[in-house]
Amino acid sequence: MTLSLSSSRHVSLVASLIAACQATPTATTQAPPAPAAPAVPIATVTPAPAPSASPAPVDTASHATAAFAFRDAVIEAPPGWQGPRFKLNHDYPKARPSCDAPWLKRAVSFTDPKQTWGAAWAGYIQDVVDYVRAGQDDNLSDEAGFRTQVAGQARWFHVPWMAYEGQRGREFVHGLTNELSTAESTFVGRGGGHHHLLGAKKVNGHDALFETWSIGFYNPCGAYSIGQSFPASGEPATSGDPSGEKLFAQGLPFADGTVVVKILNTTADERSVPYLKGSTNWQAHGHKQESPTTYSTCDRAVTHVHLVQMDLAVVDTRSPTRWVYSTLAYDGRLPGKTVWERLKPIGVQWGSDPATFPAVPKAQSKPPRETLIAPIGVPQHYGCEKRLAGVVDQANSSCVSCHMSAFAAPAGVLQKQGVNVPYVFNFDGLCTTPNAANTSYFSDYAYPAQVPGTAFKQAIPLDSSLQLQVAFQQYAVYKHPDQPRTCPNPTLAASP
Ligand code: HEC
Repeated sequence: MTLSLSSSRHVSLVASLIAACQATPTATTQAPPAPAAPAVPIATVTPAPAPSASPAPVDTASHATAAFAFRDAVIEAPPGWQGPRFKLNHDYPKARPSCDAPWLKRAVSFTDPKQTWGAAWAGYIQDVVDYVRAGQDDNLSDEAGFRTQVAGQARWFHVPWMAYEGQRGREFVHGLTNELSTAESTFVGRGGGHHHLLGAKKVNGHDALFETWSIGFYNPCGAYSIGQSFPASGEPATSGDPSGEKLFAQGLPFADGTVVVKILNTTADERSVPYLKGSTNWQAHGHKQESPTTYSTCDRAVTHVHLVQMDLAVVDTRSPTRWVYSTLAYDGRLPGKTVWERLKPIGVQWGSDPATFPAVPKAQSKPPRETLIAPIGVPQHYGCEKRLAGVVDQANSSCVSCHMSAFAAPAGVLQKQGVNVPYVFNFDGLCTTPNAANTSYFSDYAYPAQVPGTAFKQAIPLDSSLQLQVAFQQYAVYKHPDQPRTCPNPTLAASP
């Protein structure tokens, strides 16, 4: 997601489209018939959320704040749209759910320097995949999408404020957001905006560039914390002494048993990337493609995207960072009958490997021991010095190193990396030069610690959630209408 709003282009078509669209009728997707009860009986919401009382009258300003925070898409579906329609699930649990989970009982080691990818970790990740897959369509069809209701209960929730920003914000079909290209130097977050894919071949003589469109989901344990940080007002809820040293977001840290899944889709298809054969085929209101290598900044058009990577993040407080990350790669050449069976873990990571280059000089560097890479046949690159990262991720970072840098500036204050929040990415010498910045970035620390060696006293720790960081930043952008926008200023189509 963009946190850099440096150029101001105005595409009047988008403005007129926004104006033309009316408030949507009730969503038609994501209410499938209740599937069989999941085999893994965890993380259900107990007790049931309190029934919401009739809303108190609100003033217009705060009404608009909540409407922007919790809206479904940057541009709503046009009248007569017959396809799936994304509905933001922000009915976050009001009480902390029970968050027991089978993988938390797996006897895995977070310290053994000799271990390799083996049965213990494979079983751990499989437990998480079983939980994520429960109740979902076998092939994640366009029509079914990724369901938020599982066995009659709300299982998956979304982060607010990600449909605010016009260039990258959520589209109306599946709620996908676009990720920024590495070319943009002020970029906060992972690469993947316009990029090549490993293993891609030329189509009609063109070395095409692709876009990544993705969406994240939090399970009830995680969603409880999100709902505390962003209550119904849509404004971030923080506590602490704003003039002093420490500020916190309500509801954090996330509890053991929190699961976050992120589905990453690419505009590439099997014609150029053979291992995408038989992948999903989702419609997405993406950027209008202008040539094999260029896409419009603000103009959108319904296009198709295909699952290439599925990211997993779970809280396990046995980990030195509190978190365990894994990613599954899609490989259409595998024999499995369903999309799920053709998704394979490429590894697991629970720390940033502080004893490995460039946290230490090459001469002292040890092989990574907080990433375990799984054997896999699909073309992949990994992260910095073979720490974990996926095929549409930055090869000079890693899951944990990027995510542990998730901090926000105080509510309503614009975030500037290296000024009031730490670098998530893109600092001088990243992964190449052993320096203090790399030693901090590739170190292990856990909520509520600040990034070691940094002194952003008011940076609010977000317990590794970069989507929460996006939400804080978009709220701050909203509070600064004077800041330049990449695409026209968001407007509300109609009162929801
Ligand atoms: C270069 C930085 C970077 C790297 C590397 C990275 N991510 Fe992320 N990730 C982000 C950003 C930024 C977001 C929030 C915006 C979004 O979802 O698009 C995010 C979002 C997520 C989310 C949704 C929840 C959250 O924390 O915001 C998950 C889950 C996730 N990433 C998992 C992974 C996994 C697994 C890997 C490694 C395979 C990985 N990420 C590598 C930057 C990164």
